Amino acid sequence: MKTKVVIGVCGSVAAIEIPRLIRRLRRKGIEVECVMSEAARKIIHPNVLEWASGNRVITEITGKVEHVRLCGVDGEANLLLICPATSNTISKIAHGIDDTAVTTFASTAMGSGMKIILTPAMHFSMYRNPFIAESIERLKKNGILIIEPRIEENKAKLPDIDEILKKVLEELKV
Ligand SMILES: Cc1cc2nc3c(=O)[nH]c(=O)nc-3n(C[C@H](O)[C@H](O)[C@H](O)COP(=O)(O)O)c2cc1C
Repeated sequence: MKTKVVIGVCGSVAAIEIPRLIRRLRRKGIEVECVMSEAARKIIHPNVLEWASGNRVITEITGKVEHVRLCGVDGEANLLLICPATSNTISKIAHGIDDTAVTTFASTAMGSGMKIILTPAMHFSMYRNPFIAESIERLKKNGILIIEPRIEENKAKLPDIDEILKKVLEELKV
């Protein structure tokens, strides 16, 4: 069976980088499915991620229990990449809150022991918020791999796509 990555896309302006990341993963023979928060859909249209991934984008959990199919025990996916991860979603995951499609995937993946990588992206002032820093530490302690952002122009920016790709491939061991 093909290696599969689920990308959880949150409402950061960095979401516009995700189609390029998806294409790079697919060129490595990795299948990609995307799940988007409502805020993400205000920044980038699901059609773009559907075009890039070749798969229908999950924008809500339906009777098909998409989160269990992909991230449950023995789910289809090998890894959940939350990218970009907003301060909102980081705080929610760190506290077990699950009220968006992305946090439902995270909650399920945490419980099933799936590999999770998270890439924070936000203004530096948000990143420096002690509650966000604490939440990131909680996530690390619970086995989530954090790809540190680039601090530039007062922003905690998504790292280069190459760096994200490298970490994902390392974790997948492909
Ligand atoms: C244009 C735009 C850019 C945004 N960029 C970010 C960002 O980079 N990081 C962040 O944490 N929030 C950002 N926000 C705010 C989030 O979208 C907002 O906190 C939202 O509630 C996040 O929801 P989600 O975590 O479910 O995606 C941005 C909002 C807008 C409108």
